Amino acid sequence: MTLQAIKWNKADGKLEILDQTLLPVITRYVQVKGVEDGWKVINKMQVRGAPAIAIVGCLSLATEIIHHPEYEHKTAFRQDVEGKLNYLVSARPTAVNMKTAANEFINLANNLSKDAQYTLSQMKDKFINEIDEMLRKDVEDNKAIGDWGAREILLNVPKDSFIRILTHCNTGSLATAEYGTALGIIRSLYEKGKLEKVFCTETRPYNQGARLTAYELVHDKIPGTLICDDMVAAALKTKQITAVVVGADRIAANGDTANKIGTYQIAILAKHHNVPFYVAAPRTSIDFHISSGDHIIIEERPEREMTHINDQRVAADGIKCWNPAFDVTPASLITAIITETGVFKPADLIKAKE
Ligand code: MRU
Repeated sequence: MTLQAIKWNKADGKLEILDQTLLPVITRYVQVKGVEDGWKVINKMQVRGAPAIAIVGCLSLATEIIHHPEYEHKTAFRQDVEGKLNYLVSARPTAVNMKTAANEFINLANNLSKDAQYTLSQMKDKFINEIDEMLRKDVEDNKAIGDWGAREILLNVPKDSFIRILTHCNTGSLATAEYGTALGIIRSLYEKGKLEKVFCTETRPYNQGARLTAYELVHDKIPGTLICDDMVAAALKTKQITAVVVGADRIAANGDTANKIGTYQIAILAKHHNVPFYVAAPRTSIDFHISSGDHIIIEERPEREMTHINDQRVAADGIKCWNPAFDVTPASLITAIITETGVFKPADLIKAKE
C-alpha cells in the first residue's frame, strides 16, 4: 500500500492530511475544513514539502468553495479566491509552488469571470476540477522525474553497476501527491533493480530524514541507511556513493536552488569528492522571475525546533539560536536539474520553460 499524505474526496469535498509532526510514532489524519485550516497545517508543518504545500493549500480552497458556496456573483467569487490564494502563499515563504499555483488560479478566476459562457456555478465547478487535477498531474510528473533521473544516473556509470544514492530531507510521498521527486528517482532505480542502497541524512532540526524519509524507505522496503548530518563527508569518502539527489523549494532562472538547510554544504562536499549532485523537481519549482538565488526569501523557524526534541529541552537554557529552514546551493555546484520533461544543466534551464 502506498503512503498517502493527502486524502481528498471531491464528491463530498473532504480533505484530510497525515499529520507529519507526529510521524513516525503516531499515524493520525487531520481534517482541513477550509483555507484557515489549510494555512495552519502548512505553517505548522503538519504538511510540508514544496509540491504538497501547494496541493493542500489549493485543496483547502476547493473544500471551502464546495462547503460555503454562497457567492452573489462571479466577481465576488473571483475576489474571494484571489484574497484566499494570496493568504495561503503567506503560510511559508520559500517554496515557490504555492505561489505558482496561486498565480495560475488567479488568472483562471479572472478569465472565467470575464467569459460570458460560464455561469457562476460552472465557474466554481471548473475551479474545483482544476484543483483536483493537481493531484493526478503531480504523480504523473513525479514518475517522469523518476524515470529521467534513473536514466541519467545509469547513463553515467559502467553497465551493470549498482547505485548508491545519498539524499537529504524528505522528498517522497509525504512531500508530494505520491511517489516523490528525489525519492521518486530512488524509487525508479529500485523498481529497475538497480539500487543498492540509499543513505538518508537525519536533517536536523525538524528531522525530515530520520522521521519521514526513513519511514518511507522502511515502508516500501527500499534498502536505506540513516546518517547524521555531520557524517556526509565521511560517507562520501568511504561509502562509494554514486550520486547525491535532493529536491528543491525554489530554483532561480540561473539554476541556484533553495532547498532544505544543509543542502548547500552537501553540494560542496559532493564537489570535493567528485560525486555528481542532482536536483530533482517539477517545473513548478522553477521561478523564472528571479535571476539568481540572491532573491530567494529564506524562512526562519522558531528556536524551539532546535532547542527541544518533542517536549524535552536538549540545548542549554538561555542560548540564542539561528534556525533558517533552507539554504541556497549555487548553480556551479549542481550537475543537473531533473524535471518531468528532461534533464537540464543549470546554464540551460531556460529550455525547461518550453
Ligand atoms: O521544510 P520542508 O520540510 O517543507 O522542506 C522540504 C524540502 O526542502 C524538500 O526538499 C523540498 O520541498 C522538495 S519536496 C519534493
